Amino acid sequence: MKDQAAKLRQMMGDMPAVVAHEMQPHGAARVIAVTSGKGGVGKTTIAVNIALVLAETSRALLVDGDLGLANIDVMLGIDSGRHMGHLLLPSCSCADVAADGPNGLKVISGGSGLRELAEAGEEERSALIQKLSAYFRGFDYVVVDTSPGIGAGVLDFLHVADEILLVSTSEPTSVRDAYAAAKTIARNMPNASVMPVFTTSNQRQARQALEALNQVTRRFIGSGFDNSHLIEADPMVSRAITERSPLVRSYPRSPAAICLRKLANHILADRKKSANVLAMA
Ligand SMILES: Nc1ncnc2c1ncn2[C@@H]1O[C@H](COP(=O)(O)OP(=O)(O)O)[C@@H](O)[C@H]1O
Ligand SMILES: [Mg+2]
Repeated sequence: MKDQAAKLRQMMGDMPAVVAHEMQPHGAARVIAVTSGKGGVGKTTIAVNIALVLAETSRALLVDGDLGLANIDVMLGIDSGRHMGHLLLPSCSCADVAADGPNGLKVISGGSGLRELAEAGEEERSALIQKLSAYFRGFDYVVVDTSPGIGAGVLDFLHVADEILLVSTSEPTSVRDAYAAAKTIARNMPNASVMPVFTTSNQRQARQALEALNQVTRRFIGSGFDNSHLIEADPMVSRAITERSPLVRSYPRSPAAICLRKLANHILADRKKSANVLAMA
């Protein structure tokens, strides 16, 4: 403990003031989970790109918690062969499986098709989360990508999150699934801080989607969301995925990259005051 504190002080001393200011006190990581009701709404795109922006100024870790359809390594063009499945072995540590990504980002891959992990029992999952949580402490920011729909495996990750990004498109089906996810979160974690993020083509659509989401959350959960973020629908997102090169690096001036950077900057700023806390009525 003493050694860690000394190391931290030394690092802060070596750092430019603005970076030192952005670090969390006592080396405690701020954990951001990216989740959704429906799949294919832009979660992995958001997780990968905001983690890369955070890594520019902070120690950042990206965790692929989408155990059914792990694809962070594909988006980043990483192929280390080491993944979360290995963490089920008592002898395997997080440092053993974490790969090096761009900007100094550390990445724990999910391991595509790792069925035994997706179907792991409660005890195994809890041991895994404990192992991960201990590793998180060495970072300023941890971004966790999750599976769509809030199942037991996803809730494990949401429980350790300080902030939940609830991603949806502006389509009514996606918004309805986001509401279902918000309800599950409110029921299980009444004090969770949740930020809706809409991948959509313009501000007006995002506003309408937030209104639609709030209509149901106010009626059935008792409170709505004050704030939301928008990630523009942008053909460059698909191009970047095809090229296996993350958007904020390959097309930094594209509209979606600008929105993703804005979202990351929002996370970097102290946002306790604007937290959306959903409590069941
Ligand atoms: N902002 C966006 N604009 C356009 N297409 C997007 C955007 N975000 C994601 N997509 C597309 O949606 C699909 C799913 O994206 P992904 O990030 O993998 O979502 P999820 O992780 O929620 O399944 C991809 O084909 C991607 O190209
Ligand atoms: Mg995904």
